[in-house]
Amino acid sequence: MTISSQSLEGLVTGLHHITLVTSNEATNRRFYTEVLGLRRVKLSVNQDDVFHRHLFYADDKGTTGSAITFFEWPDLPPGAVGLGSPHHLSYRVRRADAIAGWVSWLGSNGVKVSPPIGRGDHISVYLKDPDGVTIEITAQNEDSLSADYLAAEAKKVSPPQNILPEMRLLGFDHASPITSDGALTKKFFEKFLGLKSKSILPNPDQKGGQITAIGNAERPEFLRYLGSQVTPDGFVGEGSTHHIAMAVEEDADQLRLMRHLDETGIGNSGIIDRFWFKSLYFRDPDGNLLEVATKKPGYTADEGIDKLGTSLVLPKWLEPRRAEIEARLKRTDEGNAAHSKWPPVYRTPPSPPEEIPTTRREQEA
Ligand SMILES: [Fe+2]
Ligand SMILES: [Fe+2]
Repeated sequence: MTISSQSLEGLVTGLHHITLVTSNEATNRRFYTEVLGLRRVKLSVNQDDVFHRHLFYADDKGTTGSAITFFEWPDLPPGAVGLGSPHHLSYRVRRADAIAGWVSWLGSNGVKVSPPIGRGDHISVYLKDPDGVTIEITAQNEDSLSADYLAAEAKKVSPPQNILPEMRLLGFDHASPITSDGALTKKFFEKFLGLKSKSILPNPDQKGGQITAIGNAERPEFLRYLGSQVTPDGFVGEGSTHHIAMAVEEDADQLRLMRHLDETGIGNSGIIDRFWFKSLYFRDPDGNLLEVATKKPGYTADEGIDKLGTSLVLPKWLEPRRAEIEARLKRTDEGNAAHSKWPPVYRTPPSPPEEIPTTRREQEA
């Protein structure tokens, strides 16, 4: 029976996780746990490349939509943002005044952070992680606080000794890949994933540039595609986004989406059991790698909630190879000591932060 795209509405609930590339586990762990205040909820290996680690950081419970994950590949050159290689990701905090706390806290940790920047009804700051990933922290600006006011507040407050409860990252607000054709992207998500594009908006950081916001009724903008017809292809490397995963509740929902992709001839991976969830991979029209993952069984499938992320866990089909895997990881760490310097040298976030590179040269400068 043919599946109509209308019947797919509501299957995708939002983001599930975002997976990137890091050059070094130790530096990556310290940044995401000590500086951004997340919890490591899983320490494992890349199931498609089993001698390299896969690291997961999320909120305390490992809630769907809060997990940032990394493949540790020490020997890759720096990646390049462009078509097929997303631009930035964004975390949400509860209130705009938490942004001043973040500017102060990040500065006291040596992280280079942009001044607060107004984004319509949101206010954001931008930074780069130790591998060069551009991260936005954003809040809804309910009290219409000005960027200048928050910048002044950030100077006034002495840095907190730790991340205060009101500063906590609440999960992803959005991810921003790049599209060469916003109208085609909109059609792709409507037809194959039952998602809607509320609007195509001007990109305030780019003359003539547009943002195509994709989402569902509850989260209308969890993907914000930055549009540019003159952006070169990007490539995956150190500090790149590898793929963006969206969530579905049930196995049956995922199966339905896969059948629809199959019927319409969109290449996909088929459903792959990742143990903590099931995955289905495919690409958008610009080559960005996307995934649809099930919420169940979740990160507590093989570890109690209090033990999440405390030791190397392997899916059961890799357990017989544990000794070999651990020996190889140890060797990687020995060869990778130069990358584990702490504190790392932080790079300056792009300015303006959501401008898209138009040439490779400009990007590498
Ligand atoms: Fe953004
Ligand atoms: Fe994934």
